[in-house]
Formats: sequence, C-alpha cells, structure tokens
Amino acid sequence: MAAACERPFNGRQLLPFGNVISIACSWETLVRLVRLPAVAAILACLLAPPAIAQQQDPEQVVRSIELFREAGKVLQHPRCLNCHPAGDRPSQTDTMRPHNPRVVRGPDGHGAAGLPCSSCHQAANYDPARVPGHPKWHLAPVSMAWQGLSLGEICRQIKDPSRNGGLDMPALLRHMSEDTLVGWAWAPGAGRTPAPGTQASFGAVMRAWAETGAYCPPD
Ligand code: HEC
Ligand code: HEC
Repeated sequence: MAAACERPFNGRQLLPFGNVISIACSWETLVRLVRLPAVAAILACLLAPPAIAQQQDPEQVVRSIELFREAGKVLQHPRCLNCHPAGDRPSQTDTMRPHNPRVVRGPDGHGAAGLPCSSCHQAANYDPARVPGHPKWHLAPVSMAWQGLSLGEICRQIKDPSRNGGLDMPALLRHMSEDTLVGWAWAPGAGRTPAPGTQASFGAVMRAWAETGAYCPPD
C-alpha cells in the first residue's frame, strides 16, 4: 500500500491508483484493516497532492508547448510534409497535390525498382525542369508519416524512438539542425516556397523546446 502511495503518478495513472484505494477502502477490507498504521497510510495516500504538481513547473510546460508550436510552422510546412506522407505516394507543391507522375515508396522509400526516385531527382535541384534534388532523396518511412496528424501527434511521434528511427533526443536535435536533406527545405529550388526562417533558427527552437522539457501540445 505504502509503495503504491510513493510511486509518482500522473493523470493517466490516477485510475489504477484509485482502484487500489477503492479496493483497500471497500467495506470488507476496511473491516479487516483494524490496525491504525494501515488506516493512516490510506489517509496519507488520499491526502497526498499528486506528484505531477510538484514535478512540473506549469509556466515551463506552457513555454515548451509554445516553442513546439513555433517549430510546427516548419514541421507542418509543405516542404517537409510532401516527403512525410501517410500513404505510398509523395505529394508536390505548396498545395500538396499527389505526386505527378505517379510514383510509390517501394521497399525502402527510394521508389519502385522500375522507377526509382533517382531517375528524376538528381543530387541537386535542377531548376530548368523544376525537379528538386539531393543525394539522399527518398520518402520518409510510414512510421514517420506526418500528413493527417495533428501537431501534438507529430510531437509524440518524433519523440518516440520506436517510430523515429531509434533517435534519442540529442540525435533528434542533430537531425533537425544538421541533416542536409532536412536542410533542402530552406533551399528548395526555383518556384518553391522555402520553409520559414533558417535551419539554424529551427534547430535553436527545437533545442529550447528540449531544454524546457520537450512537452507536446495536447491537441
Ligand atoms: C518521373 C520523374 C520522377 C520520379 C521518378 C520521382 N519524381 Fe518526385 N518530382 C518530380 C518532379 C518533376 C517534381 C516537381 C513537380 C513540381 O514541383 O512541379 C517532383 C517533386 C517531388 C516532390 C515535391 C517537392 C516539393 O516540396 O514540392 C517530392 C516530395 C518528390 N518529388 C518525391 C519523390 C520521391 C520520394 C520519389 C521516389 C519514390 C520521386 N519523387 C520520384 C519527378 C519525379
Ligand atoms: C526528400 C524527402 C524529405 C524531405 C523534404 C524531408 N524529409 Fe524528413 N525524412 C526523410 C526520410 C527519408 C527520413 C528517414 C530518415 C533518413 O533516411 O534520413 C526522414 C526523417 C526525418 C526525421 C526523423 C525522425 C522522425 O520521426 O521523423 C525528422 C525529425 C525529419 N525527417 C524532419 C524533417 C523536417 C523538419 C523536414 C522539413 C524541414 C523534412 N524532414 C523534410 C525525408 C524527407
């Protein structure tokens, strides 16, 4: 009982915690709980303020979420979303229309064997034909699909090593601020709107978000 009381818990864990209380406080159990220390322990449980209130500075949570919303202007920009689709097909342009010609992600995101991305997308942008380029040009895996997700869902996805390619926070921050495929979004070639700001300023916002606890928008 005491162990259950000491365990830090948050809102989601309240329910099982409440169950412990209600089991312990059911009539039959109470009849058996004649020893005062046990009753005192239950009372302590009931009266203890939730650990969540002691650990989180509400202002910092708000600040962290604000920072993530700022970063969201980049994360939810068409330059990023076009390559992080939910289905099998990339999208194109600021309107994010389905990729024309029709291409599919293939086994590893590099396209079908007969029509790999690299047959059109070269190592650099080719502006005369409006074809964007980069040596690593390929689709993000389905586990990293952002299209159709809310900002909070994107946040929880990128923090989750089982869905982000095994990145811990330092590696995730490095990817955001240094990866040159991510960086393409700020130099996307003729006729394409770049992502807002610079990759460096985006990296700085992400770092500040991590330093304030990396909280996600609830929505
Ligand atoms: C047959 C040629 C061809 C193939 C193959 C091809 N693409 Fe494209 N792709 C293009 C062209 C052309 C554009 C530019 C369209 C425009 O902006 O008007 C483009 C644009 C894109 C864009 C949009 C960039 C943006 O933000 O506007 C993405 C993303 C993309 N391609 C991903 C891929 C991926 C991933 C593959 C492989 C699975 C692939 N493409 C295969 C020709 C191709
Ligand atoms: C040309 C396609 C392409 C574009 C454009 C692109 N990405 Fe990605 N992204 C990928 C691929 C592919 C991966 C998978 C990891 C790898 O192979 O590098 C990935 C992975 C990621 C990851 C790893 C973690 C995760 O869970 O998603 C992050 C973060 C990320 N991209 C951020 C961005 C941001 C931010 C932008 C826009 C500024 C962007 N990407 C634009 C293709 C793209």
